[in-house]
Amino acid sequence: MAAHAQGVAVKAPAQPGALPPSDPALADSIVAPLPAIEAHLDAFLAQQPMPETLRAAVRYALLGGGKRLRPLLAWHACAALTGPTIAGTPALDSCGAVELVHAFSLVHDDLPAMDDDDVRRGRPTLHVHAGEAMAVLAGDAMLNLAFGILLSGRGSAPALAMLLARELTTGTAGMISGQVYDTLGGFASGLSEHQRVVMVHQNKTGALLRASCRMGALAGLDALGLLTPAGTPATGQAAAKLEAVTQYADAVGLMFQIVDDVLDITQTAEHAGKKTGKDLDAGKLTYPGVLGLDGSRAEIRRLEAQADKALDTLGPHGSALRQITAYLAVRTR
Ligand code: IPE
Ligand code: IPE
Ligand code: MG
Ligand code: MG
Ligand code: MG
Repeated sequence: MAAHAQGVAVKAPAQPGALPPSDPALADSIVAPLPAIEAHLDAFLAQQPMPETLRAAVRYALLGGGKRLRPLLAWHACAALTGPTIAGTPALDSCGAVELVHAFSLVHDDLPAMDDDDVRRGRPTLHVHAGEAMAVLAGDAMLNLAFGILLSGRGSAPALAMLLARELTTGTAGMISGQVYDTLGGFASGLSEHQRVVMVHQNKTGALLRASCRMGALAGLDALGLLTPAGTPATGQAAAKLEAVTQYADAVGLMFQIVDDVLDITQTAEHAGKKTGKDLDAGKLTYPGVLGLDGSRAEIRRLEAQADKALDTLGPHGSALRQITAYLAVRTR
C-alpha cells in the first residue's frame, strides 16, 4: 500500500499526532472549496420553513463531519472544464445537492430496518440521537432540499437547473435501487456473484458519484456557454470532455465502494468513525467476499488506472480529479 501511495499528492494531517502517520489526506488546494460549500448549505438550510427540531436534525446529519467527497467531485469536475479562473463556483448548488442526497442516504442506511448502525462520522447516528421517526423525516427532508437547492435559482438558468435535476434524479434512483439489491436482493436471474456485487456497488454508490461529476461538468459547460438550449454539449470537444468526466466517475464510483468494503474489514471503528466488521456479520455481498482482499486491492488499482486514463482528455485541468482518485485509492476512513 505504501509503495502504491508514492507520488500521491497527499499531505500530512493538519494536526500532527491526531491521525496515524500513514493516514493520507487531500491537499489543501483540493479541500479549499469546502468552507464555501458548507456555508452555502448552512445558509440554504437556515432559510427553509420547517420546525426547528427538524432543522436541527438535518443540520446534525448534514453538517457534522464527513469527507464531502461528492461536493468535491462536483466542484473539481466543473473546474476541470472551466479552468482555474472560474473554477468550481458554477457548481455550488450541485455541490450542496449531492451532499444532501448523500446525507439522506446515510441516515436511512443506518436505520434499524436497514444496516442498524449506531455510529456515523464518529457520533451517534441520527436515529440514536433524535429518534427513529425524526431520522426518517430528516432523510425525507434532505432529499427534498437537494432538489430545492438546485431549483432555488441562485444564478442558474431554469434550463440548467432542469438538466442538473435530471442528473440528480438518475443518480438518486440508482442509489435507491442499489440499496434494495444490497438489503433485499431481487436480482435478475442468471447473474454470477461477481456480476451481482458490481450491480450493487455501481448503483448504491457509483450512481451518485457519477451524478456528482456530471453535474459539476454540466455546470462548467454552461458557464462557458458550451451547452445548447437542449442541454447537450455544443461542440465535439465539449462532448468529449463530458464523456471523459463520465468515464472517470464510473471508475471512481465503483472503486470508492470497493475501498469501503475493504475498510470494513481492515479498519477499527474508532478510526473509521463507524462500526466496522459489520458486512460479514450482516451477510452482505462485498468485494472481499467475492474476490478476497488481494483481489479487491487489485481491482482498486485497476479502476484507479482506468480513472486516470479517462482524465487524459482533460489535460492539465484534470489534475485535481487525479489527486482525488489517488487519495481515494489509499484512504483509510
Ligand atoms: C459512506 O460514504 C457510504 C458509502 C457510500 C460507502 P462516505 O465514506 O463518503 O461517508 P462520509 O460522507 O465521508 O461520512
Ligand atoms: C452505503 O453503503 C451506501 C449508501 C447508499 C448509503 P454501506 O452500508 O456499505 O455504507 P456504510 O459502510 O454504512 O458507510
Ligand atoms: Mg448499507
Ligand atoms: Mg451501512
Ligand atoms: Mg460499508
